[in-house]
Amino acid sequence: MTERTLVVIKPDAVQRHLTGEIISRLERKGLKLVAAKFIQISEQSVRRLYMPHKGKSFYRGLMKFTCSSPVLVMVWEADGVIEIVRKMLGATFGCDAQPGTIRGDFGCSGRYNLVHGSDSPKSAEREIRIFFRPGEIIKYELADTNWLYGKKD
Ligand code: RTP
Ligand code: MG
Repeated sequence: MTERTLVVIKPDAVQRHLTGEIISRLERKGLKLVAAKFIQISEQSVRRLYMPHKGKSFYRGLMKFTCSSPVLVMVWEADGVIEIVRKMLGATFGCDAQPGTIRGDFGCSGRYNLVHGSDSPKSAEREIRIFFRPGEIIKYELADTNWLYGKKD
């Protein structure tokens, strides 16, 4: 089923010049970019994004880190995109993530982890609404859709 997911290229990835590399991986996988904003994220938006983690030991540090430098927030679309992106990101921290995943290939930290990806359809819907109005998500066709998914006869 066609889904959407929120992907955030976090401050550490922006500062380490990994923005293009991460977008490139998602593009080459065949995912479709439908919205993007390069922003200095507000405390209010981070609070909403990470609301499920409120009260946890790492929450304050996570808030501070996410506001520490600009981020690129994006919406990507594809059949099963939520699970696909989570697999591509790998385990939460680079020190545990498998090689071949984005976190596994570009990080070894147990604190910073380069990218955020929504973890369920419900989270994706909630998170996308924090950053994008419905009209800001672009509807268009990719020319290679049939080649990506196989023709539906
Ligand atoms: P994300 O939401 O950013 O895609 O990461 P995730 O699903 O892999 O991890 P999650 O459990 O949702 O945690 C959200 C963010 O909180 C920070 N974190 N720190 N034990 C810790 O110190 C700890 N655990 C989580 C990470 O920045 C993680 O991305
Ligand atoms: Mg999460």
